[in-house]
Amino acid sequence: EPIYLKDYKAPAYLIDHTDLRFELYEEETLVRATLKVRRNPARSGKSPLELHGHESLELCRLSIDGEVLSERDFSRDDELLHIADVPDEFVLECLTRIHPQLNTALEGLYKSDGMFCTQCEAEGFRRITFYPDRPDVMSVFRTTVEADRKLYPVLLSNGNPVESGSADDGRHFVTWDDPFPKPAYLFALVAGDLAVLEDSYITASGRKVKLQIYGENKDLDKLDHAMLSLKNAMRWDEEVYGREYDLDIYMIVAVDFFNMGAMENKGLNIFNTSCVLASPRTTTDAAFQRVEGVVAHEYFHNWSGNRVTCRDWFQLSLKEGFTVFRDSEFSADMNSRTVKRIEDVSMLRTAQFAEDAGPMAHPVRPESFIEISNFYTLTIYEKGAEVVRMLHTLLGAETFRKGSDLYFERHDGQAVTTDDFVQAMADASGRDFTQFKRWYSQAGTPRVEVSDSWDAAKGVYSLTLRQSCPATPGQTEKLPFHMPVAYGLVAQNGVELEAGVLELTDSEQTFTFDDLPEKPVPSLLRGFSAPVKLSYPYSDEQLLLLLKHDGDGFNRWDAGQRIAVNLMQQLIEDHLAGKALSLPDAMVDSWRAVLNDESLDPAMVAHLLRLPSEAYLAELAEVIQVDAIHAVREFLRKALAVALQPEWLEAYKRCTSDEPYSPDAESCARRALKNLALGYLLATDEDALLALAEEQFVDADNMTDQQAALSLVVHSGFREAGQRLLDDFHTRWHHEALVMNQWFAVQASDPWSGALERVKTLQEHPLFDAKNPNKLRSLVAAFCAQNPVSFHAQDGSGYRYLGDWIIKLNKKNPQIAARLLTPLTRWKRYPQAAQQLMTAELERILAQPELSKDVYEVVSKSLA
Ligand code: ARG
Ligand code: ZN
Repeated sequence: EPIYLKDYKAPAYLIDHTDLRFELYEEETLVRATLKVRRNPARSGKSPLELHGHESLELCRLSIDGEVLSERDFSRDDELLHIADVPDEFVLECLTRIHPQLNTALEGLYKSDGMFCTQCEAEGFRRITFYPDRPDVMSVFRTTVEADRKLYPVLLSNGNPVESGSADDGRHFVTWDDPFPKPAYLFALVAGDLAVLEDSYITASGRKVKLQIYGENKDLDKLDHAMLSLKNAMRWDEEVYGREYDLDIYMIVAVDFFNMGAMENKGLNIFNTSCVLASPRTTTDAAFQRVEGVVAHEYFHNWSGNRVTCRDWFQLSLKEGFTVFRDSEFSADMNSRTVKRIEDVSMLRTAQFAEDAGPMAHPVRPESFIEISNFYTLTIYEKGAEVVRMLHTLLGAETFRKGSDLYFERHDGQAVTTDDFVQAMADASGRDFTQFKRWYSQAGTPRVEVSDSWDAAKGVYSLTLRQSCPATPGQTEKLPFHMPVAYGLVAQNGVELEAGVLELTDSEQTFTFDDLPEKPVPSLLRGFSAPVKLSYPYSDEQLLLLLKHDGDGFNRWDAGQRIAVNLMQQLIEDHLAGKALSLPDAMVDSWRAVLNDESLDPAMVAHLLRLPSEAYLAELAEVIQVDAIHAVREFLRKALAVALQPEWLEAYKRCTSDEPYSPDAESCARRALKNLALGYLLATDEDALLALAEEQFVDADNMTDQQAALSLVVHSGFREAGQRLLDDFHTRWHHEALVMNQWFAVQASDPWSGALERVKTLQEHPLFDAKNPNKLRSLVAAFCAQNPVSFHAQDGSGYRYLGDWIIKLNKKNPQIAARLLTPLTRWKRYPQAAQQLMTAELERILAQPELSKDVYEVVSKSLA
């Protein structure tokens, strides 16, 4: 059943032109496709024509050069339509009937609330019409959309609008022409009654581009931030990569029913409302930043993805890894670089490292898959971005730019591979990246163990690095990676003696540094220069020195994390051994110093003083003891809250401001520290401090402060107050879908013994809708993935709850079902009793009839 990279074959037929006519009705949609087909000169011999077509397609008529084919001329199975005998060049016409209003998988053409929209990546186009639905078949598209004028006044597709007019029965049509050849996965169509925010952009070469963001009328006031982000992204891509936009119009449409974040369809991006709508009253700072990042991400795809696309889906990281790298650099330039890096690395080290250590571990360029939707992963996206970042570090910004220029110029209009990308970097720099390419082919998180020695007489310091990589499914032996290890050598007084980038290529390598006045403290893997687990036997004194003086902001934070992790790991052992827990004075002192240091960026302070998450501690653990991790983190939080109470209150007050809300980096930083302080203050369980939180909830002019107060109180020991705020929040916001997602999520992630019962009750709430992925994420995924204590309840009730959902969603929305499964796939990391309950649940799912490919792949690989 799996398909393999090694079996790749160039397409037998190419499509020079695709003409599509859609007639949208309430009961059905008719799709007329006219394809100009030509035998691929690169393939010798005669081959049958194979078109992808989902089993739900109803084929009404098929003709070649005007001659209607009869049943004998073709055959069809549940994936393909075969026509054995075709000319070398011909016109294929195909009439298909589909039912978008019954489409709950949200792939292909479907309805979101009242509007029609599409999601074709990766293999959704085959649910619209019969077509070679593979990214190496690139065609020019002309699309006509016809629908009722009243219900669907706005009719959109890719490219430029070239014609429009009336049709019978109160209907109308618009024809769109996209001059850039593209694979079918970039096709898009939207029809609805939509409001629009318009603006324009003048490109570096002076062309005027019309910018439009479409959404529901009631959301028209929530589109400004996305528009600003779009214009900033367009400018940034011109300045940093020399890339200009190419069509006369760029459109974004917000839809509420969407499996993922957003989609880069040529000239017509379709976005989950959660990644485009933003207003101070309804949107948190984190969500503002997410909107900025996703808008930029989809825009950057116009070059890294659309103009140059993927040859096959094994190459997915070619566009995703590179584009995530591009959007993270953009966000770093727009906001705080260090803070962005801390956020990205935290995510990578908890979630991607866990993926690398689990049954679905795969290389950045996978060798095989059963269902490609399962490979839109943290490994493809985030680790893929880290691999591109390493190239950037190895080459430096200027040479990297030469490489990207060469890549875009050499491959414009082509469908290529990750090898082609690395080759462009190699050719532009004259470097050999043969070994580097192992990052694309070998899965797993490498370990780097560092030891050092000091020759006081000669002033010579040396670092020895040893690398290894654990086995992953299908890969037992790993060869050494080529990785940049950015470093600094820090003297006892905090002065930096030396800094640079080491290139580790062997399994063991020693680097020496001469003429040093004293034995330095090594600051290693600065900026997280490679996606590895690095260990060095740091003493607490050394870490404190780095926390105070490291010239690299990321490593200052990481030193603090290492101190906290060491302590928490010790406390977890103590807790499991039944010993009393205690908070060392040294920790209190160093935290006090950070908290009182007003020269620091408040965002940095907030990150420095946030304890490592339960998820990160879980990822680091040999065997994950969920309750012990939770108990220890709560103990420390309370102890630090009490020990530093006056300082928290002082920080809280210092960061409170009367100025109206603004989502700029400085104001976000202030709010981050303020709300961190509020969390510690509440942890003291003092009534007076509850009043402070309730006051903030009521007075807040922005969602960041209001939501922080809500979730802190709900997750605190003040149960009654928590319910009061939930009710109040519901009254205020029941009409705002995205805000209510927060309301669901806060309750689902509450580490309280009644959480599962409450979640089950909330499923009956009129605003919950199991067809809407955002709702499933805020209730089901929030409970299973962000509430470890409740999900891993010892009676197995959490596992069964998830299993029931998977079975329910398996056919209805396979992509979401497979994604929700993730927490169960990690069963090997838990104690024996939990393992048994988790695998039993996986077995129960596997035994269901008619498993979708999506769910089957994840469950069967998890049990393998
Ligand atoms: N290409 C989109 C993005 O990263 C994501 C599309 C995901 N589609 C899917 N079927 N998983 O911006
Ligand atoms: Zn993407």
